[in-house]
Amino acid sequence: MFSMSGQKVLVVGIANQNSIAWGCAQAFRAQGADLAITWLNEKAERFVRPLAEELGAEITMPLDVTQPGQTEAVFQEITDRWGRLDTLLHSIAFAPREDLHGRVVDCSAAGFGLAMDVSVHSFLRMIRLAEPLMRNGGCCLSVSFLGASRVVRHYNMMGPVKAALESATRYAAAELGSQGIRVHALSPGPLATRAASGIDHFDDLLDQAAARAPTRQLATIEDVGAMAAFLASNEARTLTGGVHDIDGGFSITA
Ligand SMILES: NC(=O)c1ccc[n+]([C@@H]2O[C@H](COP(=O)([O-])OP(=O)(O)OC[C@H]3O[C@@H](n4cnc5c(N)ncnc54)[C@H](O)[C@@H]3O)[C@@H](O)[C@H]2O)c1
Repeated sequence: MFSMSGQKVLVVGIANQNSIAWGCAQAFRAQGADLAITWLNEKAERFVRPLAEELGAEITMPLDVTQPGQTEAVFQEITDRWGRLDTLLHSIAFAPREDLHGRVVDCSAAGFGLAMDVSVHSFLRMIRLAEPLMRNGGCCLSVSFLGASRVVRHYNMMGPVKAALESATRYAAAELGSQGIRVHALSPGPLATRAASGIDHFDDLLDQAAARAPTRQLATIEDVGAMAAFLASNEARTLTGGVHDIDGGFSITA
């Protein structure tokens, strides 16, 4: 039905085999894409390199978006090796623990700023670097959560941060659409990943979401990957600016 055959794709955000980005990378590869895969730092490389090798990734590099020059270095390598990019997946987020666990109104300016920088502005920076490489159009994907638009208990400061991510996604879609560059947010239901383990009472959220979701089951990282691969394919060329719930319908329930 759809293919990513021959696409050059950058995947940012694999920490381990539970990562949403890993589900997406597997789907992109299964649909015929060539991959560039990054890891946060040396400690993460141990877990991510074998996964990148399993998918035959052509480019593998460290990328910590808080380190000056590292994002630029990744795009320089893509320019030198591929000369183009078709799809970008930004599947990263961060919030300092002390800010994430308190009330939103109590969060520090520094913590809020860091969360916005890693989780939102880095997406804009990557899109800006991808733009000249997407001469034939392309697709940029971010990963959001229902807490952007609804108050989800214990999601706290990441709510406003994800709201900003969804808005940034829409503005980027409007600004780049005439070049054939499409921008979307994927919005999975709760998934047991390392990032999610930083949220208080996350197991309760998983149980409640599964019980409330009309399908009575939560989406898997493979389900997220299937949606990501479709959105990145040429068959989805008329879709842009969306926030796509992949959550068994959880988000429509009260
Ligand atoms: N797990 C869920 O329930 C859920 C639901 C909806 C959305 N999301 C979002 O999905 C995305 C991926 O998270 P995940 O759940 O797969 O967890 P994960 O822990 O597997 O992935 C998070 C990634 O962010 C990366 N990261 C953090 N700080 C970084 C930095 N400074 N530079 C570069 N990378 C950095 C980590 O290295 C890691 O690879 C996040 O944006 C998260 O908010 C998660």
